[in-house]
Amino acid sequence: MSTTPAAQLLERERKVFEQRTPVSGERFARAQAVFPGGDTRAATFYAPYPATIAETAGTRLVDVDGNEYIDMLFNYTSMIVGHAHPSITDAVTRTFSRTTPVAAPVIGQIELAEEIVRRVSSVEQLRFVNSGTEATMGATRIARAATERDIVIKTIGGYHGSFPDLDYWLRPDRFPAGVPDSSPLRVIPYNDPDALEAVLGECGEGCAALIIEPVMGTAGVILPTDDFLSAARELTHAAGALLIVDEVITFRLGRGGAQQRLGIEPDLTTLGKVIGGGLPVGAVGGSASLMQVLTPGAEKAVSLSGTFNGNAATMAAGLATLELLDDEAFARLDVLGDRLADGLRTAIARHGAPAQVTSIGSLVNIHFTEEKLLDAGASLAADAETAAAFHLGLLNRGIFIATRGLFAVSTVTTEAEIDQTVEVAGEMLAALA
Ligand SMILES: Cc1ncc(COP(=O)(O)O)c(C=O)c1O
Repeated sequence: MSTTPAAQLLERERKVFEQRTPVSGERFARAQAVFPGGDTRAATFYAPYPATIAETAGTRLVDVDGNEYIDMLFNYTSMIVGHAHPSITDAVTRTFSRTTPVAAPVIGQIELAEEIVRRVSSVEQLRFVNSGTEATMGATRIARAATERDIVIKTIGGYHGSFPDLDYWLRPDRFPAGVPDSSPLRVIPYNDPDALEAVLGECGEGCAALIIEPVMGTAGVILPTDDFLSAARELTHAAGALLIVDEVITFRLGRGGAQQRLGIEPDLTTLGKVIGGGLPVGAVGGSASLMQVLTPGAEKAVSLSGTFNGNAATMAAGLATLELLDDEAFARLDVLGDRLADGLRTAIARHGAPAQVTSIGSLVNIHFTEEKLLDAGASLAADAETAAAFHLGLLNRGIFIATRGLFAVSTVTTEAEIDQTVEVAGEMLAALA
């Protein structure tokens, strides 16, 4: 048994967690029979078992044992206006009672598409799908059809959803099962324009697209260096390849997404999470000329269908959410995110913890490493045991974050909740010191 201070603290926090959550524990035992590993969503699992949530409202979560948490994750960044916002629940209830999914265009589709087109300057037309995974899958198919090339380049550790091509190289040290060796995919480290140039050179006329996040999300809120995004734009353009910007997480960084905030003009954009207001959603968009490959009957038409694409309830929830996301809302999200990031940085300095914080706007990530965080490599090499102890410690003290140290705030998060989070994080950092 490991006896590092982090391991000992993790053991203590586990015991406390198990005492606080017996009903969740029983449910997890029951779940083992029907779900492989006892879970149906890989990202929500943590040891010894995840707390089962019974209720969500605003910024608060209550588990089946009656413990309350301040949500500092918001369903991995998607519930940007908080849980059960009355504008959204009203819109969904009203819409679903009138228009359940039907095999026809429905009210709300054009309206939500128009709103997204108004906000995102690189998007003239789009297709709604049901998840971010379907959006990135659609984007790679559109890129391959439009360029008549096969190779897609992605960043090492870049998460773009769970479909074989892009799941490849999610972790540099682990080749995932279920991905064919023949996948026409190449990888580069994030923030490495030289590697991109070299790979594009090797691919010759074969590269259909580069897919990147404007800020790496799952890899730990890794920010782009000054020249990376512009180099990505210029190099792909020069190689005749498309640039796909995956804004499934980063669309929460501004009215026009991170592409507007950071000044990058992609060929294709993928969206998800916030544009569905809490219901399953995805979208892929770009210029009208590129998106023409989706027109039924077009030469080499790509069929990107889905029984629930553009369903009325999701459209209504998405529209109600975007209506709430005006300039003032984004300014508030930035203020709250900065307050959290600054508070955590101060706590780290006070306790001399070997940790650091990356952040932009409403996205904040704590990393238990002092290595410079330029790509997923450094982030993945951080101390996992310390991160697990920190995560469980926060949970036991009523703060809900991601196991990987991601925090996200919502428009209804309060300054007091941020300060409470920082205080609790400080307690854990002191315990880990
Ligand atoms: C950048 C990015 N792209 C795509 C996806 C996949 O989205 P979904 O989980 O809706 O399939 C995610 C999910 O977290 C993501 O972070």
